[in-house]
Amino acid sequence: MEIKKKAYIETYGCQMNISDSEIVASILETQNYESTTDIKAADLILLNTCSIRDNAEQRVRNRLNELHALKRKHPGLVIGLLGCMAERLKDKLLEEERHIDLIVGPDGYRQLPQLLEQVESGQKAINVLLSADETYADINPVRTSGSGVTAFISIMRGCENFCAYCVVPYTRGKERSRNPQTIVKEARELFEQGFREVTLLGQNVNSYHWEENGIPIEFPALLEDVASIDPLLRVRFATSHPKDISDDLLEVIATNKNICKSIHLPIQSGSTRVLQMMKRSYTREWYMDRIAAIRRIIPGCAVTTDIIAGFCSETEEDHQDTISAMREVGYDYAYMFKYSERPNTAAAKKYPDDVEEEVKSRRLDEIISLQQELSLKSNKSEIGKEFEVLAEGVSKRSDQQLFGRTSQNKVVVFPRDSYNPGDYVTVKIISCTAATLRGELAE
Ligand code: 5AD
Ligand code: SF4
Repeated sequence: MEIKKKAYIETYGCQMNISDSEIVASILETQNYESTTDIKAADLILLNTCSIRDNAEQRVRNRLNELHALKRKHPGLVIGLLGCMAERLKDKLLEEERHIDLIVGPDGYRQLPQLLEQVESGQKAINVLLSADETYADINPVRTSGSGVTAFISIMRGCENFCAYCVVPYTRGKERSRNPQTIVKEARELFEQGFREVTLLGQNVNSYHWEENGIPIEFPALLEDVASIDPLLRVRFATSHPKDISDDLLEVIATNKNICKSIHLPIQSGSTRVLQMMKRSYTREWYMDRIAAIRRIIPGCAVTTDIIAGFCSETEEDHQDTISAMREVGYDYAYMFKYSERPNTAAAKKYPDDVEEEVKSRRLDEIISLQQELSLKSNKSEIGKEFEVLAEGVSKRSDQQLFGRTSQNKVVVFPRDSYNPGDYVTVKIISCTAATLRGELAE
């Protein structure tokens, strides 16, 4: 039997990247590679990278320096860069980081076998072509992330929203949706293997669109198809753009018990003026109308968001609009960032990055501490209530405790008793922090 080579894949950035790394692992398996979690044992190290902010790229640069030292000790080691940073910097990276052997953008993973052959023959290899139709629909990802209970399914790729600050349309190319039959098949197989939750992923899932024999299928219908596989399979999705989160979609979430009651709806800023400069194509009022629709159609639904502090020309008044929007919505959770100018985006070309670093930091701190307050308030309001929790694993602190999530995506720690990951457990919440709920088994 041929000895398998070992591949170590390290993933940076978003859930899409985690999902892509699983596709890459699957492609490598056909090439006599197996995945390893031991970097020292690896024959091939791949970094699946992110370009969303400058600090994401800096983290990868630092990691490459460490890998350089490792390669000096193991000259046969192959080092490759995948993902958004590979796509953004292309062959420039081969000049700047001379110990990289391989560069592959998000649409080039199918070429990995040929590219690795090229590396084996002593050349550098690169494929950064973007595709109009690659969805990796036929590739069965190797589930390297997660605990065997939850899994990601990529349903569409690319983004054409061109928000002024964002590099993604340039690194991930045109929007394209995946054949719905392959999505439902993948979800069903996961359920049969014991998985109990799938998250449907796309840069903007509401833009999902497929047409067969003239019959269109849009995201709400796809979501319902996946949810109808089995009532015991929970379904989540990310991410939605506020401009097209429709009442139709909200109705589908409301009427299907196993579609999770949690919506991630990035606001970015609470100021209509800034939103317009960001090319977000909605106003604060439009966003608040969508929040009102969520509250009306799905009572008890959690709402989470993304916020950028210090976008070009942001005034103190704009910042206060963001603060008041956060209070008005009462977000359950938020991802919060300082604006980071990305080369070649519309904002980089058109607007100076003119909010001083200290001001950006102060505004971000204010946003973070407000969110801390809102998360704590939201969690405190759950005390005394009962939730159906899907157990995901054993708590890090004690093997007598399990952790899992509510439909609203809140993490709950509770006594293990005779339960196992993958079980649904009714838990009564007894205490909380801003980050976690603690519960006891309900009577
Ligand atoms: N600077 C800061 N944050 C950014 N995001 C996207 N681009 C930038 C940028 N240039 C944030 C947005 C987006 C999330 C994934 O990252 O909030 O929703
Ligand atoms: Fe994901 Fe965006 Fe980072 Fe690319 S740039 S990995 S799409 S977060």
